[in-house]
Amino acid sequence: MTANMDIIRAEWQARTLAEYRAAAVAGEFLCWLIRLGFSPEVLQEAHRVVGNELRHAELCFEVYQGLGGDGDPLDVAEGCLVAHQGVGKPTFQRLVLACLDTFCIGGTLAQPLFEAMQSGATEAAPRQALDRIVGDGVAHVDFAWKVLDEAMEQDKKVVKGLAKTHLPSFFGKVEKSWGLLPEGWVEPVGPEELRHGLMPRVRYKRAFYQAVAEDLLPRLDSRNLPGRAAWGKRPRADK
Ligand SMILES: [Fe+2]
Repeated sequence: MTANMDIIRAEWQARTLAEYRAAAVAGEFLCWLIRLGFSPEVLQEAHRVVGNELRHAELCFEVYQGLGGDGDPLDVAEGCLVAHQGVGKPTFQRLVLACLDTFCIGGTLAQPLFEAMQSGATEAAPRQALDRIVGDGVAHVDFAWKVLDEAMEQDKKVVKGLAKTHLPSFFGKVEKSWGLLPEGWVEPVGPEELRHGLMPRVRYKRAFYQAVAEDLLPRLDSRNLPGRAAWGKRPRADK
Protein backbone atom coordinates (compact mmCIF):
# COMPACT_ATOMS: atom_id res chain seq x y z
CA MET A 1 0.00 0.00 0.00
CA THR A 2 1.13 3.52 -0.69
CA ALA A 3 0.50 6.44 1.60
CA ASN A 4 -2.35 8.81 0.81
CA MET A 5 -0.26 11.94 0.35
CA ASP A 6 -3.28 14.25 0.02
CA ILE A 7 -4.43 13.38 3.52
CA ILE A 8 -0.94 13.64 4.95
CA ARG A 9 -0.33 17.03 3.33
CA ALA A 10 -3.69 18.38 4.49
CA GLU A 11 -2.96 17.24 8.04
CA TRP A 12 0.41 18.99 8.15
CA GLN A 13 -1.12 22.13 6.64
CA ALA A 14 -3.73 22.10 9.42
CA ARG A 15 -1.02 21.50 12.02
CA THR A 16 0.97 24.47 10.71
CA LEU A 17 -2.03 26.72 11.21
CA ALA A 18 -2.76 25.20 14.64
CA GLU A 19 0.81 25.90 15.78
CA TYR A 20 0.70 29.50 14.51
CA ARG A 21 -2.58 29.88 16.31
CA ALA A 22 -1.00 28.47 19.49
CA ALA A 23 1.81 31.04 19.15
CA ALA A 24 -0.62 33.93 18.60
CA VAL A 25 -2.81 32.92 21.54
CA ALA A 26 0.23 32.39 23.79
CA GLY A 27 1.41 35.89 22.82
CA GLU A 28 -1.96 37.37 23.77
CA PHE A 29 -1.88 35.34 27.00
CA LEU A 30 1.59 36.74 27.81
CA CYS A 31 0.23 40.30 27.47
CA TRP A 32 -2.57 39.50 29.92
CA LEU A 33 -0.11 37.93 32.39
CA ILE A 34 2.06 41.06 32.25
CA ARG A 35 -0.94 43.34 32.80
CA LEU A 36 -2.21 41.26 35.72
CA GLY A 37 1.09 41.20 37.62
CA PHE A 38 2.00 37.50 37.40
CA SER A 39 5.40 36.38 38.67
CA PRO A 40 8.57 37.04 36.64
CA GLU A 41 9.07 33.26 36.42
CA VAL A 42 5.68 32.77 34.78
CA LEU A 43 6.23 35.71 32.43
CA GLN A 44 9.58 34.32 31.25
CA GLU A 45 8.02 30.90 30.81
CA ALA A 46 5.16 32.40 28.77
CA HIS A 47 7.72 34.12 26.58
CA ARG A 48 9.47 30.80 25.97
CA VAL A 49 6.14 29.16 25.12
CA VAL A 50 5.53 31.77 22.39
CA GLY A 51 8.98 31.07 20.90
CA ASN A 52 8.48 27.31 21.07
CA GLU A 53 5.09 27.51 19.34
CA LEU A 54 6.59 29.60 16.55
CA ARG A 55 9.28 26.95 16.10
CA HIS A 56 6.62 24.22 16.02
CA ALA A 57 4.83 26.17 13.29
CA GLU A 58 8.01 26.46 11.25
CA LEU A 59 8.75 22.74 11.59
CA CYS A 60 5.21 21.79 10.57
CA PHE A 61 5.42 24.14 7.59
CA GLU A 62 8.71 22.48 6.56
CA VAL A 63 7.00 19.08 6.65
CA TYR A 64 4.11 20.46 4.58
CA GLN A 65 6.46 21.98 2.00
CA GLY A 66 8.56 18.81 1.91
CA LEU A 67 5.39 16.95 0.93
CA GLY A 68 4.92 19.32 -2.00
CA GLY A 69 2.47 21.65 -0.28
CA ASP A 70 2.49 25.08 -1.89
CA GLY A 71 -0.51 26.69 -0.19
CA ASP A 72 -0.40 29.35 2.51
CA PRO A 73 -1.53 27.74 5.78
CA LEU A 74 -2.04 31.23 7.22
CA ASP A 75 -4.48 32.26 4.51
CA VAL A 76 -7.33 32.46 7.02
CA ALA A 77 -9.45 35.09 8.68
CA GLU A 78 -7.44 36.95 11.31
CA GLY A 79 -10.10 36.04 13.91
CA CYS A 80 -8.82 32.50 13.86
CA LEU A 81 -5.58 33.65 15.49
CA VAL A 82 -7.01 35.27 18.64
CA ALA A 83 -8.08 33.94 22.02
CA HIS A 84 -11.86 33.57 21.89
CA GLN A 85 -12.68 32.95 25.55
CA GLY A 86 -14.65 35.58 27.49
CA VAL A 87 -14.52 38.33 24.88
CA GLY A 88 -15.67 41.58 26.50
CA LYS A 89 -15.12 40.31 30.05
CA PRO A 90 -12.43 41.63 32.46
CA THR A 91 -8.90 40.50 31.61
CA PHE A 92 -8.58 38.30 34.71
CA GLN A 93 -11.67 36.33 33.72
CA ARG A 94 -10.46 35.99 30.14
CA LEU A 95 -7.12 34.77 31.43
CA VAL A 96 -8.67 32.14 33.70
CA LEU A 97 -11.01 30.87 30.97
CA ALA A 98 -8.23 30.63 28.36
CA CYS A 99 -5.93 29.04 30.95
CA LEU A 100 -8.47 26.34 31.81
CA ASP A 101 -9.69 25.70 28.27
CA THR A 102 -6.68 26.05 25.98
CA PHE A 103 -3.67 25.62 28.23
CA CYS A 104 -4.70 23.26 31.08
CA ILE A 105 -7.29 21.06 29.35
CA GLY A 106 -6.05 21.41 25.76
CA GLY A 107 -2.35 21.17 26.60
CA THR A 108 -2.62 18.35 29.13
CA LEU A 109 -4.75 16.20 26.82
CA ALA A 110 -2.76 17.00 23.67
CA GLN A 111 0.55 15.84 25.13
CA PRO A 112 -0.21 12.06 25.13
CA LEU A 113 -1.75 12.38 21.66
CA PHE A 114 1.47 13.89 20.31
CA GLU A 115 3.49 11.23 22.12
CA ALA A 116 1.44 8.53 20.39
CA MET A 117 1.91 10.21 17.00
CA GLN A 118 5.63 10.53 17.67
CA SER A 119 6.01 6.83 18.45
CA GLY A 120 4.68 5.84 15.00
CA ALA A 121 6.45 8.53 12.97
CA THR A 122 9.46 7.09 11.16
CA GLU A 123 9.79 9.58 8.29
CA ALA A 124 12.54 12.08 9.12
CA ALA A 125 10.80 15.46 8.86
CA PRO A 126 7.58 14.53 10.70
CA ARG A 127 9.63 12.80 13.36
CA GLN A 128 11.80 15.88 13.85
CA ALA A 129 8.74 18.11 14.22
CA LEU A 130 7.03 15.73 16.64
CA ASP A 131 10.23 15.25 18.68
CA ARG A 132 10.36 19.00 19.25
CA ILE A 133 6.63 19.35 19.95
CA VAL A 134 6.64 16.46 22.43
CA GLY A 135 9.90 17.66 24.01
CA ASP A 136 8.42 21.11 24.73
CA GLY A 137 5.05 19.72 25.79
CA VAL A 138 5.94 18.77 29.35
CA ALA A 139 7.14 22.31 30.15
CA HIS A 140 4.06 23.78 28.46
CA VAL A 141 1.75 21.67 30.61
CA ASP A 142 3.66 22.66 33.76
CA PHE A 143 3.36 26.30 32.70
CA ALA A 144 -0.42 26.02 32.24
CA TRP A 145 -1.02 24.66 35.74
CA LYS A 146 1.45 27.12 37.29
CA VAL A 147 -0.54 29.99 35.79
CA LEU A 148 -3.75 28.49 37.16
CA ASP A 149 -2.16 28.18 40.62
CA GLU A 150 -1.05 31.82 40.55
CA ALA A 151 -4.50 32.88 39.37
CA MET A 152 -5.98 31.02 42.35
CA GLU A 153 -3.55 32.86 44.65
CA GLN A 154 -4.87 36.12 43.19
CA ASP A 155 -8.58 35.25 43.47
CA LYS A 156 -9.56 31.69 44.31
CA LYS A 157 -13.28 32.47 44.44
CA VAL A 158 -13.40 33.82 40.89
CA VAL A 159 -11.37 30.88 39.53
CA LYS A 160 -13.62 28.32 41.25
CA GLY A 161 -16.76 30.09 40.06
CA LEU A 162 -15.54 30.21 36.46
CA ALA A 163 -14.43 26.57 36.61
CA LYS A 164 -17.82 25.46 37.92
CA THR A 165 -19.68 27.34 35.18
CA HIS A 166 -17.45 26.65 32.19
CA LEU A 167 -15.69 23.29 32.68
CA PRO A 168 -18.65 21.22 31.40
CA SER A 169 -18.67 23.00 28.03
CA PHE A 170 -14.87 22.92 27.78
CA PHE A 171 -14.95 19.15 28.40
CA GLY A 172 -17.76 18.63 25.89
CA LYS A 173 -15.87 20.52 23.21
CA VAL A 174 -12.60 18.65 23.65
CA GLU A 175 -14.35 15.28 23.83
CA LYS A 176 -16.00 16.05 20.49
CA SER A 177 -12.59 16.79 18.97
CA TRP A 178 -10.57 13.91 20.36
CA GLY A 179 -12.83 11.45 22.17
CA LEU A 180 -15.77 10.68 19.93
CA LEU A 181 -15.72 9.01 16.55
CA PRO A 182 -17.95 10.91 14.12
CA GLU A 183 -20.94 8.87 13.00
CA GLY A 184 -20.15 6.75 9.96
CA TRP A 185 -16.43 7.52 10.29
CA VAL A 186 -14.30 5.74 7.70
CA GLU A 187 -10.72 5.76 8.93
CA PRO A 188 -8.30 7.09 6.30
CA VAL A 189 -5.17 6.59 8.43
CA GLY A 190 -3.35 3.26 8.17
CA PRO A 191 0.26 2.11 8.72
CA GLU A 192 1.64 4.16 5.83
CA GLU A 193 0.09 7.39 7.11
CA LEU A 194 1.27 6.55 10.63
CA ARG A 195 4.87 6.79 9.42
CA HIS A 196 4.20 10.42 8.48
CA GLY A 197 2.97 11.29 11.96
CA LEU A 198 -0.78 10.79 11.52
CA MET A 199 -2.89 8.69 13.85
CA PRO A 200 -6.27 6.91 13.53
CA ARG A 201 -9.20 8.36 15.46
CA VAL A 202 -9.53 5.25 17.57
CA ARG A 203 -6.07 5.89 19.01
CA TYR A 204 -6.96 9.52 19.71
CA LYS A 205 -9.97 8.22 21.56
CA ARG A 206 -8.03 5.75 23.71
CA ALA A 207 -5.29 8.23 24.63
CA PHE A 208 -7.87 10.95 25.30
CA TYR A 209 -9.96 9.07 27.87
CA GLN A 210 -6.87 7.67 29.56
CA ALA A 211 -5.41 11.17 29.96
CA VAL A 212 -8.71 12.55 31.28
CA ALA A 213 -8.86 9.84 33.97
CA GLU A 214 -5.19 9.59 34.90
CA ASP A 215 -3.94 13.14 34.46
CA LEU A 216 -6.54 15.86 33.94
CA LEU A 217 -9.14 15.05 36.60
CA PRO A 218 -6.52 14.33 39.32
CA ARG A 219 -4.86 17.70 38.61
CA LEU A 220 -8.23 19.45 39.07
CA ASP A 221 -8.97 17.37 42.22
CA SER A 222 -5.68 18.40 43.78
CA ARG A 223 -6.70 22.05 43.37
CA ASN A 224 -10.14 21.43 44.77
CA LEU A 225 -11.73 22.41 41.47
CA PRO A 226 -14.96 20.65 40.43
CA GLY A 227 -13.53 18.65 37.53
CA ARG A 228 -15.34 15.37 38.20
CA ALA A 229 -18.72 17.03 38.69
CA ALA A 230 -18.17 19.01 35.49
CA TRP A 231 -17.15 15.88 33.58
CA GLY A 232 -20.49 14.33 34.56
CA LYS A 233 -22.32 17.44 33.36
CA ARG A 234 -20.56 17.85 30.04
CA PRO A 235 -22.82 18.20 27.01
CA ARG A 236 -22.83 14.91 25.12
CA ALA A 237 -22.71 15.15 21.35
CA ASP A 238 -24.10 11.62 21.07
CA LYS A 239 -27.28 12.37 23.06
FE1 LIG B 1 2.95 23.57 19.71
